[in-house]
Amino acid sequence: MVADADKRIIELEQQVKILIDASRQSDLVRKRYQDSLSILKQKDYEIKISKEMIEKDLYMLKKMQQELVEKEKMAALGTLVAGVAHEVNTPLGVAVTSITACSEEIRSLKRLYELEELSESDMETFLETASESAQIVRESLKQAARLIHSFKKISVDQNIDDVRQIDVYEYLQDIIRTFSNQLKKTRINVELKCSQGMIVKTYPGSLAQILSNLLINAINHAYNPNQQGKVIIQVNLDGNRLYILFMDDGNGTDDELKAQAFQPFVTTGRDKGGSGLGLNIVYNLVTQRFGGQIKLESQKGEGSKFFITLVVEVPG
Ligand SMILES: Nc1ncnc2c1ncn2[C@@H]1O[C@H](COP(=O)(O)OP(=O)(O)O)[C@@H](O)[C@H]1O
Ligand SMILES: [Mg+2]
Repeated sequence: MVADADKRIIELEQQVKILIDASRQSDLVRKRYQDSLSILKQKDYEIKISKEMIEKDLYMLKKMQQELVEKEKMAALGTLVAGVAHEVNTPLGVAVTSITACSEEIRSLKRLYELEELSESDMETFLETASESAQIVRESLKQAARLIHSFKKISVDQNIDDVRQIDVYEYLQDIIRTFSNQLKKTRINVELKCSQGMIVKTYPGSLAQILSNLLINAINHAYNPNQQGKVIIQVNLDGNRLYILFMDDGNGTDDELKAQAFQPFVTTGRDKGGSGLGLNIVYNLVTQRFGGQIKLESQKGEGSKFFITLVVEVPG
């Protein structure tokens, strides 16, 4: 009996030991589990922080891109302002010269009058030159006012781009004229092939932006300094499609650049302050604003051709 009892005690002791071991094991497992859980929580927290940081970076990047796009648009506006200053300067200069000469005449007429030496023929000559001067001044000021008016239209269009009816030929000429200042410093000639009297209803500011960006690029990228060049802008209207072929006979682009030219930040002119956004803006305007298409055909050394289709409204 005693032996049985001993055996039972030993068995119980063994079972207790097993139970203690198992409990230790489960403590260990629980601890491991808790450790893993806290590591997981830490990781989760880190991921959350990284996600927030990435989102912040992304937001900053988007903001920067927007700012750059604005900057690029402003560059076109800057060209416009410089163009206005230059173009208006000529007629204003003529008016100033003419009115200065006229003041001279008035002064000497007054002197003769005061000395009582004013002859009839002096008076006649004066009246003739004075009316000639007045005519020149009037024409010059009218020319200046006309220029300011057309530039004002373009610059307002670039800010508030409402749909408006335009004469395509007149409008494109106005835009090209804003570049005459810059073009004069080069040997690039711009020709507009567009029939007159084509009236469409469209976004004039965006059209100005497209053409300006392409012209800026032709001036900046297509030719070597002092290289002679010809840019042709050919425009056709077919139904409600306005086809614009913008071509230069400059250096063109290689296939790699051609494939990426419309991507943002693609530029070969970063050292000269190029943003690589000009053609991206053009692409976005053509496809989104006008629901159109744009294609670049270019070969190294053989110039570039931009084929553009814009959807416009043709007033009944
Ligand atoms: N008419 C062109 N002739 C040759 N290369 C051009 C022409 N237009 C654009 N490119 C090339 O495409 C690139 C992208 O043009 P763009 O997006 O306007 O950026 P950016 O003018 O700031 O460089 C230019 O850097 C240039 O290499
Ligand atoms: Mg550009």
